[in-house]
Amino acid sequence: MSTSSKGYAVSNDPPERKKVTAPDIRGRKGGQKIKMVTAYDAPSATIADRAGADIILVGDSLANVVLGLPDTLTVTVDEMVHHTKAVTRTKPLAHVVGDMPWLSYHLSTEDAVRNAGRFIKEGRAESVKLEGGRNRLEAIEAIVAAEIPVMGHLGLTPQSVHAMGGYKVQGKGVEQARELIHDARALQNAGVYAMVLEGVPTLLGQLITKEIDVPTIGIGAGPYTDGQVLVYHDLLGLHNQRVAKFVRKYANLYQTSLDAMSNFFDDVEAGVFPSDDESYEMPEDSEAALFSDDELRKINFGEDGTVGGESSGGLF
Ligand code: KIV
Repeated sequence: MSTSSKGYAVSNDPPERKKVTAPDIRGRKGGQKIKMVTAYDAPSATIADRAGADIILVGDSLANVVLGLPDTLTVTVDEMVHHTKAVTRTKPLAHVVGDMPWLSYHLSTEDAVRNAGRFIKEGRAESVKLEGGRNRLEAIEAIVAAEIPVMGHLGLTPQSVHAMGGYKVQGKGVEQARELIHDARALQNAGVYAMVLEGVPTLLGQLITKEIDVPTIGIGAGPYTDGQVLVYHDLLGLHNQRVAKFVRKYANLYQTSLDAMSNFFDDVEAGVFPSDDESYEMPEDSEAALFSDDELRKINFGEDGTVGGESSGGLF
């Protein structure tokens, strides 16, 4: 307990949280802003959850920021499920969303439901996200009908990089903006519980957020969406690659890590790591027994009791 500026007793404990579900997120429309971040393994999920994430997205950005791939197109369902498992093993209170990779929901509704089901059955995710608008309604409806909550994703959808001709802000013109509003309505009617709006002008982000009654979660969509999401490695500055204009870096862990690692290597080179405090001592009686054990002396010091021809006395 500490005391507030007004003299009230204030608990330093984090406020009590309970497991966040898809209906909870659905109910947050127009209310408290939704905090979402990506995570891909146990350490990143633990940090995201302890920091108070409402939603952890095991994003297919895994491809870029973890697997070193140039785009998200080649990441597989197996890889995504593998990382989803690592996230859900930490039992986060945040709602966990598995991101369906390209071509895992495009070929048939059966295929889409089977792949979505793998995220739930094997990955233990609690919902799935997929990209696209009216062109993906059948897949969305089939997955929702299989009792799997679906998060939509409109605007700059990275899986459409070739169709878009690059990673470009979407909906800048009236026609394209109108199409995206139609898509958002269609996703809502198909039963998504929330949708990501990525790389659209602030005004369009605001319009779609006003127009539909499911929460919008923005990334590069301005401040008026119902929530915000960033990629873990971007917001923590874990890499030194160029980031989009919408990224705010809250740390430079790339530089911090580089400095820490160089310090370790300097210490190794200088022979000052490990110190006595970082090493294990043998109990005195064992040490004494070791001195007097002829066989062990032979193993450690050779027949003549020396190491490399030198007296072993100093080593002990
Ligand atoms: O894969 C991802 O990280 C995403 C977010 C950008 C929303 O889809």
